[in-house]
Amino acid sequence: MGDKTVLVTGATGTVSTALLGALNGKPGLKLRALVRDPAGAKAQALQKDGVEVVAGDLEEPDTLVRAFEGVDILWLLTPASALEPSMGSNAVTAARKAQVGHIVRNSAIKASHDAPNRNGRLHALVEESVKAAGIPWTILRPHYYMQNLLSSAGSVASDGTLYMNMGQGRVGMIDGRDVGVFAAKVIERPEQHAGKTYTPTGPELTTMGEAAETLSRVLGKRVSYVALPQEAAQQAMLGFGLSRWFVGNVVDYGRVYSDGWGDFVTSDFRDVTGQDARSFRQFAMDFAAAFGGSAVPAARA
Ligand SMILES: NC(=O)c1ccc[n+]([C@@H]2O[C@H](COP(=O)([O-])OP(=O)(O)OC[C@H]3O[C@@H](n4cnc5c(N)ncnc54)[C@H](OP(=O)(O)O)[C@@H]3O)[C@@H](O)[C@H]2O)c1
Repeated sequence: MGDKTVLVTGATGTVSTALLGALNGKPGLKLRALVRDPAGAKAQALQKDGVEVVAGDLEEPDTLVRAFEGVDILWLLTPASALEPSMGSNAVTAARKAQVGHIVRNSAIKASHDAPNRNGRLHALVEESVKAAGIPWTILRPHYYMQNLLSSAGSVASDGTLYMNMGQGRVGMIDGRDVGVFAAKVIERPEQHAGKTYTPTGPELTTMGEAAETLSRVLGKRVSYVALPQEAAQQAMLGFGLSRWFVGNVVDYGRVYSDGWGDFVTSDFRDVTGQDARSFRQFAMDFAAAFGGSAVPAARA
């Protein structure tokens, strides 16, 4: 049997970069990355790593034809945007035309038509078009990414303040890199995961106050959490020029997580990968430089 071609969308982003890293070098797989800018630094780095890079824009169906030719497995990750249903259906249509053998979709926690947040409802639409394609599928609904805290990395670095709009809610957050590790396991043996929906989470429940304490220990300086009221968070993000949809999405999550909607972990990560997902402490050590410091030696013990 020949190699299977895996098309990876979102290839320059957090999750798909980790997925490509985890799959690269696995026997029997040929990796192809869909990118908007093949001349960009991230695309060039992928090419250097032996990944085939193909230009395409999920908003423009005509640009997808070449990228989907001969694809066996599609990793479908779309950027957080109101256009996700449109991009998702463009990709699914291209997958049907190209007779792709399996679609693995990156969705979001508790996606459903009656979810209390716009992103959950939007992801339900994409899940539905994936399931209606007549192609074997697997859906990942990851929990909140630890990387979201990088949005406050500047103030952690400058004055030791972690500003988030998550109240005192506990969250089973996952390192986005582990979503890529999880997806790689599914893609290595897609037939074992056909028709399954997973909710990968991190190993523990953490409030943002506890996350600030962990950052304090790792960075060796005091980091305090300020629970931003939703209205203040909204005004600040709009002031930074973020899109109305994106700001509304962050506020939706802030509201529901403050109310305990994210207060759970699952065993899916361990069950599928056979290993433990990264802790928030590990994330804080790996991203210490982004938070304006370096991990103090005691934190590594
Ligand atoms: N943040 C969370 O807590 C969380 C939790 C669960 C699920 N999710 C879901 O995870 C997804 C985001 O994953 P991520 O954080 O890994 O993404 P990301 O780092 O924001 O990267 C987005 C990727 O999409 C690409 N892209 C943007 N517009 C495109 C277009 N028109 N055509 C093709 N590619 C395009 C970007 O490429 P360029 O280099 O061209 O910009 C980039 O590679 C969203 O669906 C989100 O709802 C997020």
